[in-house]
Amino acid sequence: MTEGVQTSPAFKPRVFSGIQPSGGLTLGNYLGALKRFADSQNNGVESIFCMVDLHAITNVLNDAQALRHNTRELCAGFIASGVDPEKSILFNQSQVPGHAELGWIFNCVARMGWMQRMTQWKDKAGKNTQNASLGLFAYPALMAADILLYHATHVPVGEDQKQHVELTRDIALKFNHDFGVDFFPIPEPVIEGTATRVMSLRDGSKKMSKSDPSDASRINLTDDADAIASKIRKAKTDPDALPSEAEGLEGRPEARNLVNIYAALNDQTQAQVLSEVGGKQFSEFKPMLAELAVAKLSPISGEMSRLMQNPDEIDAILRRGAERAREIADPIMKRTLDIVGMVR
Ligand code: ADP
Ligand code: TRP
Repeated sequence: MTEGVQTSPAFKPRVFSGIQPSGGLTLGNYLGALKRFADSQNNGVESIFCMVDLHAITNVLNDAQALRHNTRELCAGFIASGVDPEKSILFNQSQVPGHAELGWIFNCVARMGWMQRMTQWKDKAGKNTQNASLGLFAYPALMAADILLYHATHVPVGEDQKQHVELTRDIALKFNHDFGVDFFPIPEPVIEGTATRVMSLRDGSKKMSKSDPSDASRINLTDDADAIASKIRKAKTDPDALPSEAEGLEGRPEARNLVNIYAALNDQTQAQVLSEVGGKQFSEFKPMLAELAVAKLSPISGEMSRLMQNPDEIDAILRRGAERAREIADPIMKRTLDIVGMVR
């Protein structure tokens, strides 16, 4: 719909991304999101990362204790993965009122038909759409508000969120067009790296997810070294040796997945890994992968549990992040209300 539209050079580059505090972080979240966020801080672009608690309640509303726990644990996951709350802005969505405010305006910009086409809505609402929350339906308009409230230009996300970023572009274009302004940038999804889609350890055709009923299908960021090693040892594979070229991974989703995980954890390309491990059996490769995963992930789970013992420290980081976020968001929100014609 919005193919080929360029971000206006008038907007300075700014990264925004969000993760729902819906409980449990996996290796997929780490490689597909957290690690990439941490790496991207070093390219000099201002980065804003949000625990989207308003989004989380579109699914589960009545568990206040879990929401508080999950928000703090997610913040701990960000920091333990290397996101520096001094360099980047790290905060939770509900502490910046502009998200809900701009989200409402975008509910009036977006069309029912646009929202009905969202594949995540169709997946999450299932057959019983009449019983899904209105919030779940409006979810992508709130996501557009998250991004555009900061005039963000780049949105690092996993493959599954591309459609929502495209909707954000459509909302920005329609708002700009309807009011005859060039106010909102047209943001770009950033989907790159070897691990934009980490697959289940039990089934190479399914995404690794915290909602999979089998715990053996995923590595949790809170797993200890023994659990990580044992899940990798038991991961599904095929009987063949590893290939030394990418073509040899065709039709072998489990083998591809383990190679990609190795590459992403070790900051290598798939080709580099294959040139090193080509010809090896899984009995040899799995211990290498387990050792690497434990070396990279154990410090993260250690730091997460240290932080979780100090919830006041986490809360102070989130409050400070929200103050910094409001400094950017408030003037943009005020200007939006002026454009729309709200008397103040
Ligand atoms: P989940 O699918 O586990 O519920 P979320 O939808 O909360 O995870 O995703 C949070 C972030 O992590 C998003 O940017 C999403 O694209 C990324 N992500 C989640 N699972 C994976 C995966 N298996 N591979 C790569 N990225 C993932
Ligand atoms: N919808 C995203 C997900 O489920 C989370 C999210 C909310 C987000 N707001 C965002 C991601 C803004 C990027 C930018 O993973």
